[in-house]
Amino acid sequence: MTLLFKIDEARGQAWKTLFRQHAPDIDVRLESDDVDPAQVRYFASWVAPQALHHTYPGLQVVFATSAGVDQFDLSELPPHIDVVRMLDPGIAQGIIEYACFAVLSLHRDIPLYLRQQDQHQWQPRPLVPARQRRVGVMGLGNLGVAVLNSLQPFGFPLSGWARSAKQIDGVQCFAGQDQLKAFLNQCDVLICLLPLTDDTRGIINAELLNALPHGAKLINLGRGGHLVEADLLDALASGQVDEAILDVLNDEPPGRDHPYWQHPKIWLTPHIGAMTSPQTAFEVLLANIRRHQRGEFMPGTIDRREGY
Ligand code: GLV
Repeated sequence: MTLLFKIDEARGQAWKTLFRQHAPDIDVRLESDDVDPAQVRYFASWVAPQALHHTYPGLQVVFATSAGVDQFDLSELPPHIDVVRMLDPGIAQGIIEYACFAVLSLHRDIPLYLRQQDQHQWQPRPLVPARQRRVGVMGLGNLGVAVLNSLQPFGFPLSGWARSAKQIDGVQCFAGQDQLKAFLNQCDVLICLLPLTDDTRGIINAELLNALPHGAKLINLGRGGHLVEADLLDALASGQVDEAILDVLNDEPPGRDHPYWQHPKIWLTPHIGAMTSPQTAFEVLLANIRRHQRGEFMPGTIDRREGY
């Protein structure tokens, strides 16, 4: 029974070492190793190559090494193959750090002060108290909830929106299309942590941005596909959106002439919000393999109809 990793050599070796030390009964191979295709039961990767189930006829589970699985073509895999996303506490920690850094930077006008520094300007703005800065998170999966919980101590009024109703202590929760506008109307800072599906592609468009309070700030930690990039440029030009911090884009890296590179009101980071690290993800992956071996449900299993 083989667990095959499609991953860069260095991280692959780290995974192999962990399995050798803690679960030597599982035969872990990298693509560069000698692999008997008939033995492959588990496949772990950031993206799945086409026709995976033909190459590995005994394949039972595809483990995404990422939190999001939009990069997999789920329609292509037969239904008996489970696809499981990575619920790595290390990913959650990375997203928490990024979200707090981004919210606090926007709350304290740091992008503005950096622009002022460029101009040799020393112009303090009045401080907005945290209790007057309403922060909303779209997407209340494990990452959205983790971010909201970690923002609690700062005193921002917190809200969240998801497709279905959720309850989170200290967070005003909105659900479904019917309540999306009411949610947006009160987000001074909006964080996107949605999964990318057919329903959420392009969700951050002119209509959504216009529903925010004038001068709102945007943080995208979901996927580039959530954002209609031209609509954000318009919203920044009109002042409807005041600043944006984006860790994900449609094309990564964006083309050399992409208008976001030079935009004074956009901070870009190269999809570094979180990274799966074998050290923290190993236990999660091994626990799921053990569950699968016992015929139990694996947390993170994708609902094929929902796409996440
Ligand atoms: C990274 O973007 C992930 O989905 O883990």
